[in-house]
Amino acid sequence: MIIREATEADWPHVLTLFQSVATSGDVFAYDESTTEAVTRKLWFDLPARCWICEVEERFAGTYYVRPNQPGRGNHIANAGYMVAPEFRGRGLAVAMCAHSLETAKHLGFTAMQFNFVVSENTAAVCAWERCGFATVGRLPQAFRHRELGLVDALVMFREL
Ligand SMILES: CC(C)(COP(=O)(O)OP(=O)(O)OC[C@H]1O[C@@H](n2cnc3c(N)ncnc32)[C@H](O)[C@@H]1OP(=O)(O)O)[C@@H](O)C(=O)NCCC(=O)NCCS
Repeated sequence: MIIREATEADWPHVLTLFQSVATSGDVFAYDESTTEAVTRKLWFDLPARCWICEVEERFAGTYYVRPNQPGRGNHIANAGYMVAPEFRGRGLAVAMCAHSLETAKHLGFTAMQFNFVVSENTAAVCAWERCGFATVGRLPQAFRHRELGLVDALVMFREL
């Protein structure tokens, strides 16, 4: 498994995975109506920095790191992660999260914040806790889960 910075050639893989996750309606607030331009601004274009995880030279996952806020909040990083379904359950999310913490530190951020982790996204919550994140806030019924209806979203935070 390798993790490397994305190049333009990676964009179609990132977009396809994002669209399938957004359409699933169970983990991202972004839904199936999200345009390519919005996705690219979130995940791929500066100030976001996008990284790719490959397993045996196949696209297996991706993460981004970006400032969580502009101006006076831009010392805290935000990040997002996706693992392709066929590569899930092998520790790739934990590996990418650990890598992203190093990336964020290298870029000068002092902490990382996740703004909207769906409380029912067990794999994600487990992975981020394993990487040292604490839940610092719970937003009651902030997410309309496609199957479960209204569920909580978590704010998770970790100093670097
Ligand atoms: C969430 C996601 C990134 C996890 O990726 P992954 O590579 O499968 O995760 P890992 O293999 O690193 O496992 C992380 C932890 O979750 C656990 N886990 C994995 N799949 C699980 C599942 N379906 N149910 C419960 N726990 C699960 C693992 O055992 C591991 O916990 P541990 O370290 O205590 O053993 C992946 O499912 C995904 O891309 N989902 C869609 C996008 C998404 O939800 N992104 C995160 C938004 S906050």
